[in-house]
Amino acid sequence: MDLRLRVIGSLLLCAAILAAQPVHPVGNIFKPVATPAELVSEVSLLTLLICAVIFVIVGSLIAYAVIRFGYRRGDDKSEPAQVYGSNQVEIAWTVIPILIVFVLSMSTARVTSAVQDHPMPKDTLNVTVIGHQFWWEFRYPDLKIATANELHVPLSSIAQPRLTLLTLKSADVAHGFWVPQVAGKTDVIPNRVNTMWIDPKEPGIFFGNCSEYCGTQHAKMELRLVVDTAEEFKTWVAAQQEKAAAPESPDNQKAFLASTCGACHTVDGTRARGKTGPDLTHLMSRRTLSAMEVPLNAETLRDWIKDPQHLKPGNKMPTVKLTDTQLDQMVAYLTTLH
Ligand code: CUA
Repeated sequence: MDLRLRVIGSLLLCAAILAAQPVHPVGNIFKPVATPAELVSEVSLLTLLICAVIFVIVGSLIAYAVIRFGYRRGDDKSEPAQVYGSNQVEIAWTVIPILIVFVLSMSTARVTSAVQDHPMPKDTLNVTVIGHQFWWEFRYPDLKIATANELHVPLSSIAQPRLTLLTLKSADVAHGFWVPQVAGKTDVIPNRVNTMWIDPKEPGIFFGNCSEYCGTQHAKMELRLVVDTAEEFKTWVAAQQEKAAAPESPDNQKAFLASTCGACHTVDGTRARGKTGPDLTHLMSRRTLSAMEVPLNAETLRDWIKDPQHLKPGNKMPTVKLTDTQLDQMVAYLTTLH
């Protein structure tokens, strides 16, 4: 194919990709909403600025040299006079890059220590984050609650700063915890405990994703950070601390408990006490299904239980053989777990 056609085709493709609606409600990484992300953003902008200045200077010099000294028809083809050794020039191109690298490494070190050594006030909220193939478990040890994929934290303000300390662990392989608008990535490593903290200053839902390749469904290991006002957070915690809703129909509950689901999932107050899958005690308080871009409702839940491997191939949830009636009963029961 003609080179020009190829270039135009590639440019059109890039434009189409950029114009396409994003699949996820991804936040703007240039709009940090918490202190760690603000610091990271500042040092990134400084780096970008220095690189931009270098690019402009080097680019202009090259362009000038090409235009001014380029070969023209009729020019003499022999090599021009060569210049050897210039202490001034050599010192300049040694000292300037050293200074640049020094400034960049010092500013990075300053941000790193500011984030790492930040004191944790007494009212810091503790959350244990556990990465699983391919979902997130969130445990609040002091509040005695557990949830999945949607991390609720309180809003922080200047008047009332509220920090959340995340203790990161893995149940299987290496994952990465990343909600770009609140903080940098932190690896989630088996047999190792990492920590990070956030203080989101804007209420709302912030999108995150696993940032370390962990298997087939790495891309569908999403997480949502829900930043609640103090009041909303209190309400949410109270609702999560409640015992599981009493079954509207004992038969539906029986169908659930008779299945193998309880071997992996917990519904507080029943004999379903499994720990390998997400806690279902307050399942319907979550907005999405299975760490994906899928809203959680009776219909999606039914599809999911019927054939989890179809929606998210390679995930750890087995397909349980169920009759249509059993499936209906199970969905009817699970959708009462608010
Ligand atoms: Cu977990 Cu990638």
